[in-house]
Amino acid sequence: MNNLLTKESIRLYTDNLKKTYIMGENRIEALKGISFEVKNGEFIAITGTSGSGKSTLMHLLGCLDVPTSGDYFIDGENVATMNRNELATIRNRKIGFIFQKFHLLADLNAIDNVALPQLYAKKAETEAREKALQTLKIVQLENRADHFPFQLSGGQQQRVAIARALINDPTILLADEPTGNLDTTTGEAIMNIFRRLNRERKTTIILVTHEPEIAAQADRVIDLRDGTIKSDNRI
Ligand SMILES: Nc1ncnc2c1ncn2[C@@H]1O[C@H](COP(=O)(O)OP(=O)(O)O)[C@@H](O)[C@H]1O
Ligand SMILES: [Mg+2]
Repeated sequence: MNNLLTKESIRLYTDNLKKTYIMGENRIEALKGISFEVKNGEFIAITGTSGSGKSTLMHLLGCLDVPTSGDYFIDGENVATMNRNELATIRNRKIGFIFQKFHLLADLNAIDNVALPQLYAKKAETEAREKALQTLKIVQLENRADHFPFQLSGGQQQRVAIARALINDPTILLADEPTGNLDTTTGEAIMNIFRRLNRERKTTIILVTHEPEIAAQADRVIDLRDGTIKSDNRI
């Protein structure tokens, strides 16, 4: 493969990414120099003990926070030097983020929660709702479009959150312990959705988990330890 092709197949690339939190007198080095690359269509699990820096890394990868130092490229653009507005635009166009605790808006029903990223992308409301309904079909929840979060089970809320993450057709899906608040059977259903998206749409997926059975479903496992990469293995 020539250089150009190799470059084009790289979706994400981090170089010596560091994040230090300052808490009064204390400096917490949450990430101490993370370098890795992610190819188009990879399905990666990030594992590691509590406090090893998994969520910090995911927030940087998802453009929800900025690094203290180091570089981070998405499709060849250095995100580490972007301002908040530019980051928000990249996030809205390219990234879907799924949280352990769903983070749905309690006063919006399922369809309006899912439609929100379309409205941020300045799409018309009718168009956004139509796309939201289509996207709810992917997670098989079109029959719950009018339900508010409190009227949905945990697994259903997470499926709504996945639809919200998918509505702008992201090429990168990031999920921080997406099955952590769910029972095993429900968690398995959520994993089936991720696997299908990766297989059928070639969506690049990076998923944090501390469950070995979940990590085993990925193509590659990156293990974090104390803010550094302890191992990075294709399986
Ligand atoms: N916003 C924050 N402010 C200060 N310290 C933080 C913050 N977020 C995380 N940390 C600290 O950074 C380290 C890594 O945390 P985190 O990335 O949440 O780990 P993990 O997700 O692997 O459990 C921990 O020591 C944690 O206490
Ligand atoms: Mg975490």
